[in-house]
Amino acid sequence: MPLSCNLSSRNYSRAVARNYPAPGNRKRFWRAARQFGAVCILMQVTLSIGAAEVTYADLSPILASRCAMCHSGSAAPLELRLDSLEGLLAGSRNGPIVKSGNPAGSELVLRLKGLSPPRMPMTGPPFLSDEETALFERWISDGLQPGPGAEKAAAAVPGSAIDRPETDGSTLYSDIAAILATRCAKCHTEKGLMGAAPEGYLLTSYAATVSAADRLRIVPGIPLASELVRRIRGQARPRMPFDGPPYLTEAEIRSIEKWVADGARDSAGNPAPMPTGQRLRLHGQLDEQWRLDGLPLTITSSTRVDKNPGPGDYVRVRGRIRADGKITAERVTRR
Ligand code: HEC
Ligand code: HEC
Repeated sequence: MPLSCNLSSRNYSRAVARNYPAPGNRKRFWRAARQFGAVCILMQVTLSIGAAEVTYADLSPILASRCAMCHSGSAAPLELRLDSLEGLLAGSRNGPIVKSGNPAGSELVLRLKGLSPPRMPMTGPPFLSDEETALFERWISDGLQPGPGAEKAAAAVPGSAIDRPETDGSTLYSDIAAILATRCAKCHTEKGLMGAAPEGYLLTSYAATVSAADRLRIVPGIPLASELVRRIRGQARPRMPFDGPPYLTEAEIRSIEKWVADGARDSAGNPAPMPTGQRLRLHGQLDEQWRLDGLPLTITSSTRVDKNPGPGDYVRVRGRIRADGKITAERVTRR
């Protein structure tokens, strides 16, 4: 900007004399001077706000509403606790997540930008805004200043209340993601407790959880056709979480079931697309009418039936989901 607020009064008079040469223009001169002064003060205020040091106090509301629902307590993923400055600076089981003066080399920033998967917050989309991400970057550049009230813990806001969209009471991914994060993600991640994710199934993002890439584990609207629900209920074996008991509480199972029944919506409220024609693989108990724990199967002339399964048998079903939500069984095998 060519304007300078440090114009000396002599320079100022010269500049004004150029623009207001006639002596009768004194009034206009002073009016212009006053306006110029006001603009200068405004500019300085704006600049000083823009340049103010970012401290932990600026970040803790974001951490409380978007991160602490998972990153707190004894089950925090990778032992990373983001409900206090102390926890943030302590980092995770893998080491520090912030390097003072080096935002681009800080795991925290890489996760917020999705340069290091899975992107954080795990409930996204929505992820953080560019402005919010920039605050974290500036805090790191500015040398990790604590700021006022940093000793106060950033208590978790349940269910990411701040940005929860209006819904008709539907359960959203943000309502159940903390369960998956604290009870499942330690194995169902790239390099988890058991090495690669079991069955290649990642539970560290919305997209991966509902993905139809190899086969469906969630059929939106139909909990009984969703292997994930069958596994947490124990209808399909081995029951999940694999390191249980303890398994999930009945309340946790119900909310995941309701999330699936409500359309497996993302945190913004959008239902997952109906995965017509996609493959799935279910385990459970057969009854008299070719139902799997109550889920009707469509048996056709091309369904392959192995090892003569009958009512009461535990079976594995491979099939596809039809547009009407029914399951066409391609193969039923007694186990
Ligand atoms: C719904 C649960 C959930 C929320 C909310 C969440 N995270 Fe995470 N976070 C996880 C899980 C699970 C992992 C471990 C993922 C993996 O296996 O790599 C993780 C890993 C991380 C890591 C990687 C640590 C390391 O050493 O590799 C960082 C950094 C992180 N989260 C920061 C954040 C921040 C910052 C927020 C809020 C803006 C946030 N997370 C919100 C579940 C969550
Ligand atoms: C200690 C590690 C571990 C934990 C924790 C864990 N799992 Fe698993 N998961 C496994 C293993 C191992 C398998 C493969 C088991 C098999 O079918 O032989 C598996 C399989 C699955 C499958 C079947 C995938 C498919 O393609 O058929 C689903 C669904 C699943 N887990 C969901 C979950 C959920 C939901 C949680 C949390 C509530 C969870 N898991 C926690 C280890 C784990």
